[in-house]
Amino acid sequence: MRGKPVTTEPIDATATTAWTDLTAQRDALRPDLRAWFAADPQRTERLTRTVGDLHVDLSKNLVTDETLATLVRLADEVRLGSHIEAMFSGQHINSTEDRAVLHTALRRPASASPALVVDGQQVDSDVQAELEKVFAFADKVRSGAWTGVTGARVATVVNIGIGGSDLGPVMAYEALAPYVQDGLELRFVSNIDPTDIAETVQGLDPTTTLFIVASKTFGTIETLTNARLAREWLWEQLIAAGAIEDTEEARSQAVARHFVAVSTALDKVAAFGIDPANAFGFWDWVGGRYSVDSAIGTSLAIAIGPDGFRDFLAGFHAVDEHFRTTPFAQNVPVLMGLLNVWYVNFLDAATHAVLPYAQHLHRFPAYLQQLTMESNGKSVRWDGSPVTTQTGEVFWGEPGTNGQHAFYQLIHQGTRLVPADFIAVANPAHPLKDGDTDVHELLLANFFAQTKALAFGKTADEVRAEGTAEHIVPARVFTGSRPTTSILAPALTPSVLGQLIALYEHITFVQGVVWGINSFDQWGVELGKKLALEIAPAVSGDSEALAAQDQSTRSLIEYYRAHR
Ligand code: F6P
Repeated sequence: MRGKPVTTEPIDATATTAWTDLTAQRDALRPDLRAWFAADPQRTERLTRTVGDLHVDLSKNLVTDETLATLVRLADEVRLGSHIEAMFSGQHINSTEDRAVLHTALRRPASASPALVVDGQQVDSDVQAELEKVFAFADKVRSGAWTGVTGARVATVVNIGIGGSDLGPVMAYEALAPYVQDGLELRFVSNIDPTDIAETVQGLDPTTTLFIVASKTFGTIETLTNARLAREWLWEQLIAAGAIEDTEEARSQAVARHFVAVSTALDKVAAFGIDPANAFGFWDWVGGRYSVDSAIGTSLAIAIGPDGFRDFLAGFHAVDEHFRTTPFAQNVPVLMGLLNVWYVNFLDAATHAVLPYAQHLHRFPAYLQQLTMESNGKSVRWDGSPVTTQTGEVFWGEPGTNGQHAFYQLIHQGTRLVPADFIAVANPAHPLKDGDTDVHELLLANFFAQTKALAFGKTADEVRAEGTAEHIVPARVFTGSRPTTSILAPALTPSVLGQLIALYEHITFVQGVVWGINSFDQWGVELGKKLALEIAPAVSGDSEALAAQDQSTRSLIEYYRAHR
């Protein structure tokens, strides 16, 4: 199968009847979650949904049943269903790069039928074959069958990558810490700041260190620079320790045992000196920010093992199936994506907080920043015409309760609307007690207290009833009606993590479809990359290059050169 985007011209959401109705509903809206809940004892039951193991309570959102139904109608009017099908079936919905978007194929079970064939490629069998290759390698590292040049087994895996080739693996490694094999540690290098690589390799034993160079394009300057620095470090350390001779042959043997790569550009991997036999591939239909479930997850597969990784993929797939087959009114990613549209386009929200009450998810907001903002930070639609409304909001967050003591003030009492997703699990990794107090229960009490305070607030009369002096009353009033979605799961297993990631992938997709944008390219990062290469000679002292800069850039470079 090969196809063009579902419609060459995006449907303008703002021209739909649903949009007109939503505008009228927004104008008439007097959000009052206190009153809505008091008048409607079934609200939570009616607005709670399940996807996989995720229990999702949407009831504290600023929507009436009518608005939710109108949002669903909006999804119909922009033909979301056809777009979902277009993505899953491999149509070229990434229009500017003329590519299919098939991260969902990475997690189809081996037994999936009928087989997915896209652009002549047997997608399922290719995915399974590469997965088996990754798993075989992971098994070798985990069992000690894979050794470094001296015969020592691997103790530390250093993943060198950036963006999607870093954020997914590092986030998932942190999230799944309890599943990591004893004796194995993963470290991550991403930044071109030399501090990153220098401090990451500090203290490592070169004989037990394996580097994974992860780069979809194998052309990213940060990753290739860090990979070369890592290679230099490896050689120097091995030679200094007397582990290898200082010869070309010994150096290349060291690379063969201590470097593997993940990329779609296997020719460039070979040019770097990494044996193609030690390289794991994926395909251009996997976007970087959608690639943690591809061979980009090799470091994770080593850490949690093939069984854990299969479980991770099964979690994604469960949500994929839900997204593809569930009617929109029950479809969690569809509803959450539509609610985001409601907040961004009708209630002027510019940001969206994601607040995990699970320490192991501490990198999840950072991961979501790339997923959502690189996907939906667009001003033109997929046919090149300007967007007709606001697009991607800023995603941000920190684990609770840290955020409570930092930025929640603004969410509770500021002038801006900040919709927030609260995420927690019922069973913690470390069930500790402080005397008689179950500390995880204290954490959850905070989750429930915050979502309750945000929804229902505190009135002036309630503040007064506490004996507060009248002039302080206004400062202590909480308006309430600040929207949250609560997501609970039994435990943070590999499957649940896969479910959470897929949930947000599809939320992002739904928003992109409504806005008529291509959520799968990222041209906005190109200009800065190109300019950095042009500016580099000026930074190094090339006077001609310096003279070619604008006055501000020139002055900054001059400051740097005067102070280095
Ligand atoms: O510059 C943005 C970007 O292209 C991301 O989309 C991508 O995840 C990252 O760079 C890294 O790219 P690569 O995996 O090709 O090194």
